[in-house]
Amino acid sequence: MKSVLKRVAELDSFEIFALFEEVFENTDNGPKLILLLNSLARPERKVFWDTLNPLGKLWLRGDSPETGFNPDADPPADPGNQQLILAETVIQSFVDRLASLVEAAKTHREGQLRDIITNREIVKATMSEFVSDQFLGVSMPSPVKEYPLNSKLIELPEPTDKVVRTSSIFQCIKQRKSHRKFTDNKLSLAELSYLLWATQGVRKFMPDKKGSFRNTPSGGARQPMETYLAINHVADLPVGIYRYLPFEHKLVFQSSVQDLQEKLSEFSFGQQFVGWCAVCFIWTAVPYRIEWRYGLEAKKDILQEAGHICQNLYLASESIHCGTCGINAYNQEKVDELIGVDGVDEMTVYLSPVGRIES
Ligand SMILES: Cc1cc2nc3c(=O)[nH]c(=O)nc-3n(C[C@H](O)[C@H](O)[C@H](O)COP(=O)(O)O)c2cc1C
Repeated sequence: MKSVLKRVAELDSFEIFALFEEVFENTDNGPKLILLLNSLARPERKVFWDTLNPLGKLWLRGDSPETGFNPDADPPADPGNQQLILAETVIQSFVDRLASLVEAAKTHREGQLRDIITNREIVKATMSEFVSDQFLGVSMPSPVKEYPLNSKLIELPEPTDKVVRTSSIFQCIKQRKSHRKFTDNKLSLAELSYLLWATQGVRKFMPDKKGSFRNTPSGGARQPMETYLAINHVADLPVGIYRYLPFEHKLVFQSSVQDLQEKLSEFSFGQQFVGWCAVCFIWTAVPYRIEWRYGLEAKKDILQEAGHICQNLYLASESIHCGTCGINAYNQEKVDELIGVDGVDEMTVYLSPVGRIES
């Protein structure tokens, strides 16, 4: 085996961390390492793999020779000597700089540990520390997001329990689990209407519609959440991005998106089922709606509300023999861009793809 690969096999955890920072994240040299590894003949593959640190195993293993290394596969077609020499030079240069890269990785890690402690503040209550805009007499922000006058609105059927197939709350809670495999069968508009009602439907308006009580709880009934839908398979609705209008119980069509399923999968770090669903719920927060009253407390409240909403989606999905799965592993900028929010005054908080499941 080439000595450079022997060295890679012997990297310790911190050196592996440095490898991934330097070779995969900060440069586009990752495929060169994979290429080099894939040039190993079967017996060498086994020796490399048996020596490799578990962290390296976790990060290097892949079933496709383009993106990962499979110790049990035969080497793919010979990429040519030139390519291999270039790849070896690049990885050798990484090995030569290893000591300084490990130092940098350690500094990075120390920073991350400090950030972890800082982030813990997010789960603490901060209610008494802030003079809110409401307290200062600033007028209340709009309770819902506006939409352009010429928008295409889609009427939703009145929410009804006629779509419900399992009505026992006991059974729905008992059966609830995260689903990551959906059939191609469409959802009906009545089922979508039911899921939207269950998650963000209005139960009661405040006087003059200055606010609303919904089917999920909200701190001070400030309702900072918005619901976007990436629709793939819903009867009578073209593929695209839509937004729920809870006050009207309608949808507003936002945009058609080419290759929506592929994009959603890519934007959730390759989780195929996030794209290959009937409809992906994408919840955003409009933080000022709640900051106006509770200031610093808003961040905690928003995350709690997302949890309430998604739990109702889990249970309502169970009741109509569909499945869902809360998703935090998504690319913030890409999803924000997909649904057209700026990431400052409104940002994606949580995703949950829904689809029909085998029963
Ligand atoms: C906040 C949160 C984020 C999650 N993110 C993901 C995710 O990105 N991908 C995924 O496959 N599952 C995700 N899940 C689902 C969990 O993996 C799942 O709830 C957990 O394994 C327990 O399984 P159960 O829901 O079937 O009980 C998430 C769940 C929660 C609550």
